[in-house]
Amino acid sequence: MAGLCFTEQVRGQNSLGQGNVEMAHEALGRLAEMLRCTVCGAEGLLVSQGVIRCRCGRLIPVRGFLIDMMDEEQCRVTMTFGQAAMRWKPLVAVYNGLWRHMTFPFATWIPFSTEQEIILGYHGFCPQYRLLDIACGPGTYTRRYAEAIGSEGIVVGVDASGEMLEQAAQVAARKALHTMWLIKADASKIPFRDNMFDGVNCTGALHLFDHIDPVLERIHAVLKPQGVFTLMTFCKSRSSTVNKVAELLGIHLVDRVKLEESLCKAGLTIRDVRSSRRMLLVCAHK
Ligand SMILES: C[S@@+](CC[C@H](N)C(=O)[O-])C[C@H]1O[C@@H](n2cnc3c(N)ncnc32)[C@H](O)[C@@H]1O
Ligand SMILES: [Zn+2]
Repeated sequence: MAGLCFTEQVRGQNSLGQGNVEMAHEALGRLAEMLRCTVCGAEGLLVSQGVIRCRCGRLIPVRGFLIDMMDEEQCRVTMTFGQAAMRWKPLVAVYNGLWRHMTFPFATWIPFSTEQEIILGYHGFCPQYRLLDIACGPGTYTRRYAEAIGSEGIVVGVDASGEMLEQAAQVAARKALHTMWLIKADASKIPFRDNMFDGVNCTGALHLFDHIDPVLERIHAVLKPQGVFTLMTFCKSRSSTVNKVAELLGIHLVDRVKLEESLCKAGLTIRDVRSSRRMLLVCAHK
């Protein structure tokens, strides 16, 4: 139970009774079984003494509902300006409230609530729905999913930014969302076994990845057959200056045709595409 003291601290204000702490511990065990070690590839990890252990000797720290699976080598990888900005505390602090609601609609011309309605509508939640939110940031969608999914479901947010994940953990604590887990990892190394999720979401982030093909391959692998993949990203502008400036900032505006080819190459079948100004919303199935 040692690793669960953070559970009480963060979720806390003593809102987790003993029964809930035990349930959280069991849920951690179930989540560990779904994991795959990104170092040796072993599948199904074990929890003991508050950490997740792999047979290769790797110890994965757990702080409440926050699991750190980012390995040392990944931490050293050079970040683009766009990725580094996602660790800048002033931006992290205003991301959910101000940034996401004000700047995104400027580029998309649709309110965030409409985007959210469309994305949530693509996932037909059932009580045991398992959803993975890639590049979840401060839990913009993760918490909405956790609210929509019942107590038997599971929502996992993955992000490379510890600062964003801390923010997501605080929101989960405030709202007592006990089915929501957060994992620090790189999107190209999603640390889950194959066929684990009914749905995967990736919003507002594809354009920040240096290479999208490895990410899409992993998304295809972790989805169950017929699983749903939703994404929202930004397309290239007709102005080459805008595209060049974006590139300088580490924002790789997407070419719609190339994205559709990449989805297809990864084994995903496109079911719906909607666009509004620079925004592209896609629903695909495995
Ligand atoms: C603009 S935020 C999007 C957050 C949220 N999904 C949303 O819809 O608002 C982009 C997120 O992508 C994350 N990110 C960027 N590159 C990543 C990578 N290679 N692996 C995991 N997360 C990454 C950043 O840390 C950041 O939290
Ligand atoms: Zn291992």
